Amino acid sequence: MPVKAPQPGELEPIERAGRDELQALQLQRLRWTLRHAYDNVPHYRRAFDAKGVHPDDCRSLADLAKFPFTSKADLRANYPFGMFAVPREQVVRIHASSGTTGKPTVVGYTKGDIDRWADLAARSIRASGGRAGDIVHVAYGYGLFTGGLGAHYGAERLGCSVVPMGGGQTEKQVQLIEDFRPDIIMVTPSYMQVIVEEFRRQGKDPRQMSISVGIFGAEPWTEQMRRDIEQSADIDAVDIYGLSEVMGPGVANECIEAKDGPVIWEDHFYPEIIDPETGAVLPYDEAKGGSEGELVFTTLTKEALPIVRYRTRDLTRLLPPTARSMRRMGKIVGRSDDMLIIRGVNMFPTQVEELVLSHGRLSGQYQIVVTREGLLDEVEVKVEVTPAHAGADRGAIGRELQERIKTLIGVSTRVDVGLPDSVERTLVGKARRVIDRRPK
Ligand code: DLL
Repeated sequence: MPVKAPQPGELEPIERAGRDELQALQLQRLRWTLRHAYDNVPHYRRAFDAKGVHPDDCRSLADLAKFPFTSKADLRANYPFGMFAVPREQVVRIHASSGTTGKPTVVGYTKGDIDRWADLAARSIRASGGRAGDIVHVAYGYGLFTGGLGAHYGAERLGCSVVPMGGGQTEKQVQLIEDFRPDIIMVTPSYMQVIVEEFRRQGKDPRQMSISVGIFGAEPWTEQMRRDIEQSADIDAVDIYGLSEVMGPGVANECIEAKDGPVIWEDHFYPEIIDPETGAVLPYDEAKGGSEGELVFTTLTKEALPIVRYRTRDLTRLLPPTARSMRRMGKIVGRSDDMLIIRGVNMFPTQVEELVLSHGRLSGQYQIVVTREGLLDEVEVKVEVTPAHAGADRGAIGRELQERIKTLIGVSTRVDVGLPDSVERTLVGKARRVIDRRPK
């Protein structure tokens, strides 16, 4: 399949600019953001004053480290509109992320913010190999979640024909993919697996579908998952990253010609990696990249909701530029909130995903159930064989996987290998990989 990497002439000049030009733009925009936040959002004025810093103290990009972090708790404390830096009348769109408990975090956009978001989502789809005239099937959820509308506006901006399908209704997804013959699908990777299964359930070969590229994000997924989807659907799978507090989908996107981690659109977002314990900025080497830690973002052009040093809780590292002049991020290992500590050993669902998918006879569906028996945490890993291996010795497969998890991750688990389709699927929203039944 020919990879539709953009020709140099199709890129925006800033995507090819030198580091010096990019950094000069970042500094100018960063200074504007700090001033805008300080002047218009009481929370930032209080937080800067409490730390004894003023926007004028930012004379270089490294000076950003002097400024305070912002967390989800700060957005919640200022619920619903307290973090807005413009009069509410100038906010043309509101989104919110649900969170598991309590109040949602609310974000707002001016007309200009929506315009720049559409541009960046269009840039992301182009980096993924999309072009004007393509049909784009959007199966991210529409509504308060930023996935559907973010992808939608980007695809329209690029000049594509958009099918605003949204999440769920898997049979209908398959029908529309067959009838409309889209070139691109934008969906969570876990739901793409469900769509592929539905093709097979209907006796159809998913490799025959018209789609040539999938733009997958909104949840952590591994290189093994990429291979699994690419092979089962005969498509190119690229990674799109984003979060509502910073913008939504299109903060970073992988380039199809490289598939080496999402390129951070650094002309609009300034990334830092910090030690999640101490908050110290971890060093970055121009040639080798930086060490792994928590990703922190400062927006550079957001009007309604400028965000300063937002702690994403996502764990990854910064990597040097390759296909563009901007830096990349490694695949997200997991969120610090998703990290399970089992009898003292740290374990991420993505580590289990790698082992499940590299097994060969197991489908990519898995769930990790954590319970507590007395004082000890017990972990059950629920997986299932693929239909082609329905008759295999499931007990033996389970013992094999259990052994690999013990050796490679260091956690004792009970592995339950079920028949095809026995693991619960998430049909709308982000995959629920961990069920934690331990008493709070
Ligand atoms: O998930 C925005 C989005 C929609 C991104 C569609 C990509 C595609 P939130 O609901 O605010 O926003 O959740 C943001 O999702 O902090 C990560 O933990 C996770 N996440 C998003 N993209 C990726 C990705 C949207 N490509 C949170 N890989 C983030 C891993 C991701 N995790």
